[in-house]
Amino acid sequence: MRPTAIFSFLFLVVSALGSLPGLPSKIYGVNLGSWLVLESWMLPQEWLDMGGESCDVCSTCIATEFAFAQAFPDTVDAIFNKHWTTWFTQADINALVAAGINTVRVPLGYWIVEPLVNRATEFYPRGGLAQLRRGLTQLRAAGIVAILDHHALPGVQTANQMFTGRCTDDVEFYTQYNYHRALIWTSVMTTLSHVDPAFANAVAIEAINEPIMDAAQTPDYGEFQQNFVKVVRATEFLLGVPTPGFGAMPAPANGNFTAMLPNINTSAVFNAEVRSVLLDTVPILLELGIFGLSRRKDQLITNFMDINWQFDNPANPSEAALGPQGYDNHLYYSFGGVADPNEDAYLTSICNLQRIQADAALGNSPLWFGEWGLPTQFTATDAFLFKWADAQKLAYSQGAGWLFWNFKVEKSKLAGTLFRQWSYLDGVELGFLTKDPSKVHNASVCAPYVMG
Ligand SMILES: *[C@@H]1O[C@H](CO)[C@@H](O)[C@H](O)[C@H]1NC(C)=O
Ligand SMILES: *[C@@H]1O[C@H](CO)[C@@H](O)[C@H](O)[C@H]1NC(C)=O
Ligand SMILES: *[C@@H]1O[C@H](CO)[C@@H](O)[C@H](O)[C@H]1NC(C)=O
Repeated sequence: MRPTAIFSFLFLVVSALGSLPGLPSKIYGVNLGSWLVLESWMLPQEWLDMGGESCDVCSTCIATEFAFAQAFPDTVDAIFNKHWTTWFTQADINALVAAGINTVRVPLGYWIVEPLVNRATEFYPRGGLAQLRRGLTQLRAAGIVAILDHHALPGVQTANQMFTGRCTDDVEFYTQYNYHRALIWTSVMTTLSHVDPAFANAVAIEAINEPIMDAAQTPDYGEFQQNFVKVVRATEFLLGVPTPGFGAMPAPANGNFTAMLPNINTSAVFNAEVRSVLLDTVPILLELGIFGLSRRKDQLITNFMDINWQFDNPANPSEAALGPQGYDNHLYYSFGGVADPNEDAYLTSICNLQRIQADAALGNSPLWFGEWGLPTQFTATDAFLFKWADAQKLAYSQGAGWLFWNFKVEKSKLAGTLFRQWSYLDGVELGFLTKDPSKVHNASVCAPYVMG
């Protein structure tokens, strides 16, 4: 066996066990949704109090960050800073620690890297990066690691969804201009994760949250996947992170990309687009005051939605991997199309879920379930929600673990019972979710539903 073959073999074994550098061997996590990317349906009263609006078709009123920032250019930053300060607090972190949570997924907009925003046509609040630093620092003190999730992409990656920051059917992410901006975002986040002490617990970067499922509508997404990983690894190399396969390169001097790049020949990793991204990243890093060499030695985990998120001949993100990589699948029964809307159909479906196996067969392993919850298309009894929580946790734990959507939602008259099925902390309080996330109420919950 050649040494490289041995290395690959060991890497495959490690991947199969789900132990990626920095991540817990089993992820018991929650999303920090509606914090740095606000979705007004999750906090309807606060949104109205902030000055937002509610409407059936979210593109037709002030229902998103974009519409809000456009309507209130002078006050948006202060109003959002108050939201960021109060929506996710030390008290929330204490509650997550008490609930045994070991990982958070942090949804982020491209606008958190403020120089990327074209202010003539794009409207978003400023000041999120300081809040991200604040939150990561508190999470780290609590022993919780973070996945940085590029949740809302430049140009908008999916039509008419609040989670993209802008409700519109004008979807322009899948263009060279916006792929390029997303890659600059990636290099900035990679640099922050290695250089900024506040980011010491950021262990993974997810390329894009929930692209359009029909791969025919996401042209060049496969090339973007390749460049995403190359940008992370090229940035790490320039920051002095030991990076397999870069041995012959000149030793990094001071993390100054501009000084380094001329000494690095064009190669498979340092291709023309990656070099262009790195050169465009430099002035942003200077503006943000971020430079220097990496403070840590581990490579970041690159993270993609799994190949089976898409249909219609999708690109396979496993072909982009260079170093540690993980895969993310999201599963909501409440939006339809998964199982018939009744208890037996839900349990039969989840108890026979084949997603982990189907992904592994295509190299998409380890896999975690980065979004799920307790919502249903029918009125669920308490008795059902105990089973529904158990069965989902048992299914997702067969992979690398899970992250619930969401850590909390608003509790108000207007929000009604939203918290019962969408809030992890309330689910624990109500008893549906066990106080120890590694446990279930009834390990046999699936016994009547498993098919031969
Ligand atoms: C870059 O290419 C030149 C010319 O082929 C070669 O002399 C040099 O060693 C290369 N540098 C690296 C770091 O590979
Ligand atoms: C980075 O290197 C370039 C080229 O040597 C130099 O002009 C620039 O001042 C350096 N920037 C920093 C922040 O050191
Ligand atoms: C656990 O679930 C199984 C299958 O539904 C059921 O037969 C058993 O009674 C349950 N155990 C408890 C303690 O509720």
